[in-house]
Amino acid sequence: MAFTLQSASIFPFLLFLLLLSTAAANGSSKSKLCGRSASRCLAWRLSVETSNLKNWSVVPSKCVGYVEKYMRTPGQYWEDSKVAVLTNLGYAKTVKLVGDGKDAWIFDIDETLLSNLPYYQQHEYGGEAYNSTTFEAWVSETKALVLPSSLLLYNVLLARGFKIFLLTGRDEYQRNITTHNLFRAGYKGWDGLILRGVNEQGSAAGVYKPEKRGELVKKGYRLWGSVGDQWSDLSGPYEASRSFKLPNPMYYIS
Ligand SMILES: *[C@@H]1O[C@H](CO)[C@@H](O)[C@H](O)[C@H]1NC(C)=O
Ligand SMILES: *[C@@H]1O[C@H](CO)[C@@H](O)[C@H](O)[C@H]1NC(C)=O
Ligand SMILES: *[C@@H]1O[C@H](CO)[C@@H](O)[C@H](O)[C@H]1NC(C)=O
Ligand SMILES: *[C@@H]1O[C@H](CO)[C@@H](O)[C@H](O)[C@H]1NC(C)=O
Repeated sequence: MAFTLQSASIFPFLLFLLLLSTAAANGSSKSKLCGRSASRCLAWRLSVETSNLKNWSVVPSKCVGYVEKYMRTPGQYWEDSKVAVLTNLGYAKTVKLVGDGKDAWIFDIDETLLSNLPYYQQHEYGGEAYNSTTFEAWVSETKALVLPSSLLLYNVLLARGFKIFLLTGRDEYQRNITTHNLFRAGYKGWDGLILRGVNEQGSAAGVYKPEKRGELVKKGYRLWGSVGDQWSDLSGPYEASRSFKLPNPMYYIS
């Protein structure tokens, strides 16, 4: 198998693939194999999105073509993002704001407000191992794209009176370029942009983000909703009343 197996946690997945490839071997026509391969990759993506599969490092090489097709504009990725946003809006409508300036909503940035798709197009859609040098160089160009449905959600929430906090794994030294990129993409009017300080460099997102949510809660904010493309953006202590997971089959952050 061409899949790179990085950790023992992937073993059940391997078993599952073996079962499927046995079935696939039966149909020998090319189109049949493509169909099998696509359905296997769809199953892989589902296991990623549900967080059944954790700590994976790269998109399996057999699924790079599938992920490329999924991410293509316009395509299923954009449709999935749009539906997630509509679900957000449906819930937001039911929230009775207290109106004391403490009704808050949290957004992650990368693959949530902004899309780094142009970068990943150059790096196998996540099929290449993460490289902090090239990724940070890309971030400093401030060319990440707007995710249109996220901008719509952002503006509706802002107009309804929610205080918006941006909570990102980006570092404090990237504050200026991040602000610049967000403005460029059309975002404005947030109440806080929370980046990793020097003391938070080492901690996993799944530790750092709950800590930062905790600080907001201690300041009296009610976290009505939270939006991110990773479960580590959303889960853990001080979870928002509702969490909304946006799609992202290109990388995993613990
Ligand atoms: C293989 O194909 C045959 C004939 O189409 C079918 O009867 C059989 O159930 C298939 N086996 C598997 C494992 O899919
Ligand atoms: C995934 O990685 C995190 C952090 O490195 C670790 O705490 C956790 O045990 C790992 N989970 C699995 C299932 O390997
Ligand atoms: C990251 O990319 C740079 C520039 O292409 C390269 O020089 C470096 O070896 C890469 N690092 C890793 C760990 O692959
Ligand atoms: C960020 O921009 C402000 C003004 O726009 C400037 O004063 C500050 O030095 C910049 N900081 C960095 C780290 O570039």
